[in-house]
Amino acid sequence: MPNSYPDQSVAVLFSGGDSPGMNAFLRAIVRLGLNREKIVVLGIRDGYRGLVRTARAVNGDAEALVRLKSTIASHPGRAGLINEQLDIIRMDHASVSGIMGKGGTILGSARCLEFHTPEVREKVIRLLKNLNVRALIVVGGDGSLTGAKLLAEESDLQIIGVPATIDNDLQFTDMALGVDTAVKTLVWAVDHFIDTARSHRRVMVLETMGRESGDLARMAGLASGAEMIITPEGGPITDEAMKGLAAKIEGAMTRGRGHAIVLVAEGVQFDPPQKRNRAYVLMDAFQEYFQRSGAPFPDLEVRPSVLGHLQRGGHTTPQDCILAARFADRAWTTILTEKSKNGITALRKNVIEIVPYGAPDMPERAAFSKEMEKLHEELSSW
Ligand code: F6P
Repeated sequence: MPNSYPDQSVAVLFSGGDSPGMNAFLRAIVRLGLNREKIVVLGIRDGYRGLVRTARAVNGDAEALVRLKSTIASHPGRAGLINEQLDIIRMDHASVSGIMGKGGTILGSARCLEFHTPEVREKVIRLLKNLNVRALIVVGGDGSLTGAKLLAEESDLQIIGVPATIDNDLQFTDMALGVDTAVKTLVWAVDHFIDTARSHRRVMVLETMGRESGDLARMAGLASGAEMIITPEGGPITDEAMKGLAAKIEGAMTRGRGHAIVLVAEGVQFDPPQKRNRAYVLMDAFQEYFQRSGAPFPDLEVRPSVLGHLQRGGHTTPQDCILAARFADRAWTTILTEKSKNGITALRKNVIEIVPYGAPDMPERAAFSKEMEKLHEELSSW
């Protein structure tokens, strides 16, 4: 009965910064639900914010709840997606058609500060129960999964997390959804900047995202052949350290190198602290060093770029689409066979596991970061 309200369902929401692979995950979770498990998926608009809005609108009123269920039932799929007043959509086959490789998320994503309040979460839990939701899947990064952990602790709903963030800063999984695509985009960007760097014999300083983690910059550096990668894990960078980096570039120029691409992760801090973007701070420091009296390359120019949200968009890579399907598959298996199990899907040694919320960092992740740094250094020609 497509137009009746489902007796049971699984809800899915996307939270925090959007990440490539979110749409591929939505498609997989909806299609596996309908084709294999015969269970309806309710898509939540704008992450936790959509749930909070709806909980507030219903506000424990039985009649409002009946009206909401009727609106959800009468606006399945695309009809629900285009109805901006509706935050809970009964997904169908057609609503996820053609979205697999599209960046962003058709359901929308948001950061929701209100969700930090226990009373707000309590209202949301009540709403989900009243809507016959048996499990909620939360797709997002660190903050979003912390919200999922709280819901799991405070309710008897099954809460499954799915790691999706271009930052790759979640240390319990080898890879989060979206990282592969973001690295591909960064490699593409570096390729473009190299053209100008070579033509003008310049140093290009490109700032990547990644929050406090340098892994995105490391992966992009290794994959693109960027000459230098500056990451936050080593602590704040002093003026002396910046001179050292500039000296390294100058040394390479002395040996005949014509240009350099420097990747700096946004998590990098300076000592003394700086307010400006890292790429600009480094540009000034490098430029000052190159122009010091008696320097060999006073005309060597430095140009900064903050790559920003370019890194989050674009066509999702096959690798991310595959990971999305595998995460969705594991989420369904857990929901159906381990009903009381809460946890997060994680990729570990090419197996998708469910790990508990708050799982310790995998030592392999730190080893991976070190391995990338070492390889980058060893592959360098300067
Ligand atoms: O967590 C993903 C991320 O893109 C970070 O790399 C970045 O620091 C942040 O989100 C940017 O957030 P916003 O889109 O809110 O500016």
